Amino acid sequence: MTHEFTAQQFRQVLGQYPTGVVVVTATIPGAPPAALTIGSFSSVSLDPPLVAFYPGKDSSTWPKIQAQGRFCINVLGADQEALCRAFATKGADKFAGVAWHPAPSGAPIINGAVAWIDCEMEDVLTLGDHYLVVGHVTALETESQDLPLLFFRGGYGRFLPSSLAASESSLAEFLPVVEAVRAELESVARDCGSECNLAAQIRDEFVVLAGAGAQASPRGKRPTRVGRRLPYLAPIGAPLAAWGDPADLDRWVSPVSDASVDGLERWQDTLDVIRRRGYVIGRGDTPYAAMENAIDERTGRGADPALLSALVEVRKTMLDQPSIGSSDDKYDVRSLTVPIFLPAGRVVQMGLYGLQADMSSDTLRRCVRRLLQASWRCTESLGGEMPAGFPLPGTDQH
Ligand SMILES: Cc1cc2nc3c(=O)[nH]c(=O)nc-3n(C[C@H](O)[C@H](O)[C@H](O)COP(=O)(O)O)c2cc1C
Repeated sequence: MTHEFTAQQFRQVLGQYPTGVVVVTATIPGAPPAALTIGSFSSVSLDPPLVAFYPGKDSSTWPKIQAQGRFCINVLGADQEALCRAFATKGADKFAGVAWHPAPSGAPIINGAVAWIDCEMEDVLTLGDHYLVVGHVTALETESQDLPLLFFRGGYGRFLPSSLAASESSLAEFLPVVEAVRAELESVARDCGSECNLAAQIRDEFVVLAGAGAQASPRGKRPTRVGRRLPYLAPIGAPLAAWGDPADLDRWVSPVSDASVDGLERWQDTLDVIRRRGYVIGRGDTPYAAMENAIDERTGRGADPALLSALVEVRKTMLDQPSIGSSDDKYDVRSLTVPIFLPAGRVVQMGLYGLQADMSSDTLRRCVRRLLQASWRCTESLGGEMPAGFPLPGTDQH
């Protein structure tokens, strides 16, 4: 080489740049599937949808994949380091003992991969001792919310957001709470036939700490919400706002409010109703679905515009807390939440999500009673104190 640096330096310096790890796979007629580990993968273009990676000229696997004209990119999970190594080993029977299922192209999707991207070959260029392969994306899916595997300075690891590091310790203080309410969470989920979660405010975030019954939701199976972190903004965490630190209220309402319609004053009235009743009802299929989508599609943290506008729609329905009327009435309830009081004036919330549409008032009343009962039980077992006037289950202040 005629450069002012050695190959070792080149590798060492470029090793300062972290990458994810994918396995590129293809089925080969009459032979086992072919695959190789790739760190040089990246997204290229949305319109048309293109991705790219750089296989080495010395790869014996790449020519086999190239000959098929299509391949599937598998994004490995943080606990798939062994697979990453296996698919980087020359000459080995790479798929021995590896469970997979076919992508639409037929190429293997490795079980446990976080995401997959099915491609047709768009272009292959020669660049030095590597090829640049451009794939045209034909199908893609996120398979799990697990963290991806990362490669950095020759070692493997997983993603840890810097601001999360500080709040991990705040999460730990809730572990005894989770432990104490777990049985009740499960029992409420069973009794009400829907997902039941425990959530808390941690600084400026609303964090789902634990859950039960995610698979039982009448609105269809969905991945658990446990671990979700959302900005603590109205209407998310209304029971926390109603019974939590009043000094936080302004911050909870302001960033998304149109003061003339749903400012602090309007919320104060609603929170009064909520405090009197002991529970919060979230309604409305369409705005809730939009909010769930905005949450699912978030790639960052904090309050992005899509989430903010979805919140505005949901808060409109929340500001108007319905009273539970005659037995003929139907309620399109999406969430039902109550507070749990911890010692030292702290509050967490328990809530049912994914409830059936068209709930009868009897069913709704039964779920409210069950949640109020859980609130009393959990508060007692955690050594907290119910505020004066908090309704007893069955006193029906609806
Ligand atoms: C974390 C990691 C990232 C890798 N990234 C690439 C890459 O971007 N391009 C490449 O050609 N090889 C890469 N490799 C090496 C190939 O996986 C390996 O050379 C290949 O599988 C060799 O086997 P083959 O002859 O069957 O192709 C990587 C290996 C590891 C462990």
